[in-house]
Amino acid sequence: MSARPLHFNAFIWPNGYHESAWRVVDDDVRGVLGLPYYADIARTAERGLLDTIFLADNIAIPEYRVAHLPQTQFDPISVLSALAAVTSHIGLIGTGSTTYNKPWELARRFATLDHLSGGRAGWNIVTTVTSLAAANFGEAAHPDHADRYARAHEFVDVVTRAWDSWEDGALVGDRPDGVWADRAKLHAPRFHGEFYDVEGILPFPRSPQGWPVLVQAGQSSAGIGLAARFAELVFSGPPSLEAAVKFRTDLHARAAEAGRAPEQVLVLPALMITLGDTEAAAQEKAQRLEDLSSEEFRWQNVLYTAGLDPDAFDPDAPLPAELLDAPAASSRAAQLVEAARAEPTATLRELTSAMKSGAGQYHFVGTPEQLADHILTWQDAGAVDGFTIMGSTLPYELSTFVDHVVPLLQAKGRFRTEYTGSTLREHLDLPRPAGRG
Ligand SMILES: Cc1cc2nc3c(=O)[nH]c(=O)nc-3n(C[C@H](O)[C@H](O)[C@H](O)COP(=O)(O)O)c2cc1C
Repeated sequence: MSARPLHFNAFIWPNGYHESAWRVVDDDVRGVLGLPYYADIARTAERGLLDTIFLADNIAIPEYRVAHLPQTQFDPISVLSALAAVTSHIGLIGTGSTTYNKPWELARRFATLDHLSGGRAGWNIVTTVTSLAAANFGEAAHPDHADRYARAHEFVDVVTRAWDSWEDGALVGDRPDGVWADRAKLHAPRFHGEFYDVEGILPFPRSPQGWPVLVQAGQSSAGIGLAARFAELVFSGPPSLEAAVKFRTDLHARAAEAGRAPEQVLVLPALMITLGDTEAAAQEKAQRLEDLSSEEFRWQNVLYTAGLDPDAFDPDAPLPAELLDAPAASSRAAQLVEAARAEPTATLRELTSAMKSGAGQYHFVGTPEQLADHILTWQDAGAVDGFTIMGSTLPYELSTFVDHVVPLLQAKGRFRTEYTGSTLREHLDLPRPAGRG
């Protein structure tokens, strides 16, 4: 049986995804603020024939983070536009919020990237978890989870209508008759929904892919519902093999219920990797990163990801009693409260020291051969179509992946040996949406 080809995204993060990465790499700490850092990673990923590079977006950051982690959250589309100019094939996925953008404007920006890159754009659809974003955008309140997802459905719907507002053949370029584009081939959205009103056409013709590839990483039922309806590439996925098979099976079933072909929903979960020539060398590197982890960051981050303000807490005191009785703000908050109830005298520092960060569960540590085996085992079990590779340090782990893991997968006939197409849809073997007309 020949398996379907694997697909990989390279997740770009300053100095690497591990919180201690910036302390172990040799590069100038300010390098992550310049284009060469991103260009080097993009070219490395393209040398390895990976499907995409992927940029996250965080539109509000809590101030405590600046002490512990490099902060380089540029506008992803600006960075990807620059990277389009220094690469020729690799896909360019950027994150964009449905809660804090206007759909027509976002449709225009991603379609611009699709044009300028010759059909390599992808949009990672997020609803934005942090409530801090509201104040940055002049909003009185951050919409709740259900409301954010209700808006997201309508938002994506109207974005795709904007992308279809020109038929593919609308640009005729008829010089003798003086007709640049055929007005009869325009289809203004004239959309009036519950949340959005979008009237007019985009200010340029349909982009090479018709629609940039739609990407999503929801974990909740509502998040998976949005993915089932729209996403062509999904980043989320649980850490155990068994749970990951179930996740992909359920997602495919929900996509089928939404009238879509399940094989057109690719699942590439995030996987942090630390590689070494020997397993012991890899373990030693991973241990060094862990040893440098900041206890200060740990308790602040647990509070923040639980929806609480770290500045309002004393780390050397137990969790305030009123928090134990109030309804939990999130599943992370519930976890913290449960730990505090079990050990009422433990300080916040003690309670959180045992809590692993979410990414910890996804951390692969080993040799290139072991990683290649891991990837193939997971694909053969039906858990994944590939992975979103998060180097614990960058560019080191990515170049090791490209130079030592990719060739092993190629030798087994499981990964491409050249790009056979030019657009991201072609790399992923996804159909091009037909559009209007
Ligand atoms: C690999 C990965 C990358 C993500 N990138 C972003 C991001 O850049 N910006 C963001 O606001 N959320 C990001 N998220 C969060 C998701 O969009 C989503 O909000 C989160 O997984 C919670 O899902 P839920 O809202 O369905 O509970 C990411 C999640 C994953 C797994």
